[in-house]
Amino acid sequence: MIEVSTSILTVEKGKEAETFFALEKSKTDYFHIDVMDGKFVEKDTYQNMLEYSSYIKRISNLPMDVHLMVTDIKKAIEDFSAVEPNIITFHLEACKNKEEVIEMINFIKEQGSRVGIAIKPETKIEEVYEYLPYIHMCLIMTVEPGKGGQTLITDMLSKISALKTHIEKDNIEIDIEVDGGINLKTAERVKEAGANILVAGTAILAASDYKVIIDELKK
Ligand code: DX5
Ligand code: ZN
Repeated sequence: MIEVSTSILTVEKGKEAETFFALEKSKTDYFHIDVMDGKFVEKDTYQNMLEYSSYIKRISNLPMDVHLMVTDIKKAIEDFSAVEPNIITFHLEACKNKEEVIEMINFIKEQGSRVGIAIKPETKIEEVYEYLPYIHMCLIMTVEPGKGGQTLITDMLSKISALKTHIEKDNIEIDIEVDGGINLKTAERVKEAGANILVAGTAILAASDYKVIIDELKK
């Protein structure tokens, strides 16, 4: 079953209330919270995403899917656990070694959230294999993390299918989430490759009726 996680990265200040209510009504499966610290990636959305996610917590029961693009993962887990997200995903590339990856996985679980590991386009999919038994989702970035509105990198399709093949072979229960440049055209290809959670920001927020796009992406 395909799920859609709407990225709120580009939701304009002042328009957040109406946008979040409209997304709640459109039954997005998740709100995708793009946390950027201005170090791991250039943009800094940290405070903004803290505000937006606390607001969503107040007005909606729909789950939050927090995507940490930060260097200080531990602090971000502490800060964003306050909104009790359904899942917290951190970047493999932000960890110094295997011990730190395991430590972050356990720390997220201690906060009561499910765990995701994200990998950037240049990171080999094999690098995440050893952690799969301990996490709930692998987020394959289909653009360079750091901003919305980019074009999907088609080389990522083989990465998605490699992961799909691997989890089927090893009988691992895990969600494959893709993030960046997902629209009605590219959605077909990433679903075919094996993704089951699609993150979309621009494609949904640019639409006049969010529900139409969300339902279309899930087909
Ligand atoms: C990029 C973020 C993505 C992005 C998706 O660093 O992780 O979630 O906001 O936006 P679109 O769907 O516009 O590519
Ligand atoms: Zn994201």
